[in-house]
Amino acid sequence: MEVRKRYKYSPLVLKLRKAIIEEAKKSKHISSWFLPRHLMEVERCANRLCDKYSQADRDIVCLGVWFHDIGRLRGYDKKHDIYGAEEARKILSQAGLPSAKIEKVYEVCRSHKCEDVQPKSLEAKILATADAMSHFMHTVYLRLFLYYQTEMTFDESRILIRKKLERDFNRKIFFKEVKNQLRKKYEAMRFVLQD
Ligand SMILES: [Fe+2]
Ligand SMILES: [Fe+2]
Repeated sequence: MEVRKRYKYSPLVLKLRKAIIEEAKKSKHISSWFLPRHLMEVERCANRLCDKYSQADRDIVCLGVWFHDIGRLRGYDKKHDIYGAEEARKILSQAGLPSAKIEKVYEVCRSHKCEDVQPKSLEAKILATADAMSHFMHTVYLRLFLYYQTEMTFDESRILIRKKLERDFNRKIFFKEVKNQLRKKYEAMRFVLQD
């Protein structure tokens, strides 16, 4: 198992990271796999990308990791990109972070779904990519069948999950080497999810 590196975050980032991890542990709105298999994986993938693209601001990326899905911890699934961005702006303003940094974190959270708003900064591209990368581990696409089972039929879930797979691979991965590394898994999952 890969040993997790310890990165140097600012004290504020460390404090917020710890608080959101605690909140995730207690959340009644997410499955028990969401913290270890999604959020921690997003952080790990994002840090690997920050190692490679060293001009990225690791603190901004880390805040994006912990705020981007905070709405999902609180039961606001539908527009959680907007919720997370607004919440980050509110908390970081109260903490006195410079507004230029706050707006960067806002963009990272707001654009992570790559739907109506696209990532522009390097930090936002790293988070969107890491978010997609995490879905290719730990059978996440298959776990989604359980997640949707009360709301829709098996076939409706399959179509939705297939759409997510296509969006993850084709629209959320901004680095060619990551795409190449995941291509085989993408094709295999595409095969599994076919009609
Ligand atoms: Fe999300
Ligand atoms: Fe996410």
